[in-house]
Amino acid sequence: MAILTPSQETYVHAAKILSDGGVVSFPTETVYGLGCDIYNESAIDLVYTLKNRPKNNPMIAHVLDLSWTDQLCTGWNDTCNKLVARFWPGPLTIVVPKKDSVPKEACGGFNTIAIRCPSHQVARAFLAEFGSPVSAPSANRSGHISPTSAQHVVSEFGDSVEIIDGGHCEKGIESTVISMVENPTILRFGSITVEEIQQTIGDVDKQPIQYQTNSPGTSTRHYAPNTKAFLYSQQQLEKFDATNCVVISILFTPTSAKHHFQMPSSAHEYAKKLYSVLREADEIGADQIIVERPPQAPEWNAVNDRLRRCCFCD
Ligand code: TXA
Ligand code: MG
Repeated sequence: MAILTPSQETYVHAAKILSDGGVVSFPTETVYGLGCDIYNESAIDLVYTLKNRPKNNPMIAHVLDLSWTDQLCTGWNDTCNKLVARFWPGPLTIVVPKKDSVPKEACGGFNTIAIRCPSHQVARAFLAEFGSPVSAPSANRSGHISPTSAQHVVSEFGDSVEIIDGGHCEKGIESTVISMVENPTILRFGSITVEEIQQTIGDVDKQPIQYQTNSPGTSTRHYAPNTKAFLYSQQQLEKFDATNCVVISILFTPTSAKHHFQMPSSAHEYAKKLYSVLREADEIGADQIIVERPPQAPEWNAVNDRLRRCCFCD
């Protein structure tokens, strides 16, 4: 059986799989990860193969605490420490220059490394048992929707991967990625908002999506369901015949639709539900998935970013 219940026995078993060069899926507060030993190049290769992920898309190194970053990177500065003091453990990934001892395969050939310290108790117990950094991208096939439950991981990889079941992920959307290699630059919007980061370290740059070449996982057309998804304003929705469509909306109530998902009006609750709703919507067999454009306020940045990537916008 691919799904494991969290227990000390499970952590020992999962850590052994990693030591033997295998992969294990584990829950984090954001989404499920597909983990391997960062120092095992063939295990890293296995993760790329399972995901069908382009080899130039680097993975995140998951650590138990700040003391584990020493072995991974150089250039850790006071600003990094300020971020860590406020946001770790939690959904903030910090990109810094990497040490030569870390295989470049784990970092997509880059000379930098993305490091994150998850807060999920199951992730932490697993890391503590393994005792060394775990490389892990989200546990989905490349370009597909990230998994927020163990069942989602099963639907991505079947029985080929063992999964530690930590329930539904609390945040539901991936970590915020910030590069500290030069000026602090947000590379991916995520669970921690730009405002929260700016309160902590002052102004940061935001790398516009269309020019984003140094964080390949942030290219457009990502996080996508198989059914074509479109992002519409309320006005567009009012004129649209959604009879054979799934509608995902906050304010708009369709008079005719194959199925309607009512979404929460808080950005946090919306983010938590988004990926599981997209997966359910994808299974309905509708012609299209129509998503009502959420508010454009800053706390919606991450949700809007993911929707822009999974939907065709006009
Ligand atoms: O919440 C998360 O971050 C989840 C959980 C499992 O931790 N992980 C995740 O991993 O979303 P992944 O591989 O799906 O996304 C990692 C992102 C990608 O956009 C990747 O390009 C970027 O981080 N990234 C990783 N290393 C990088 C580096 N050295 N420089 C720039 N971007 C990097
Ligand atoms: Mg991913």
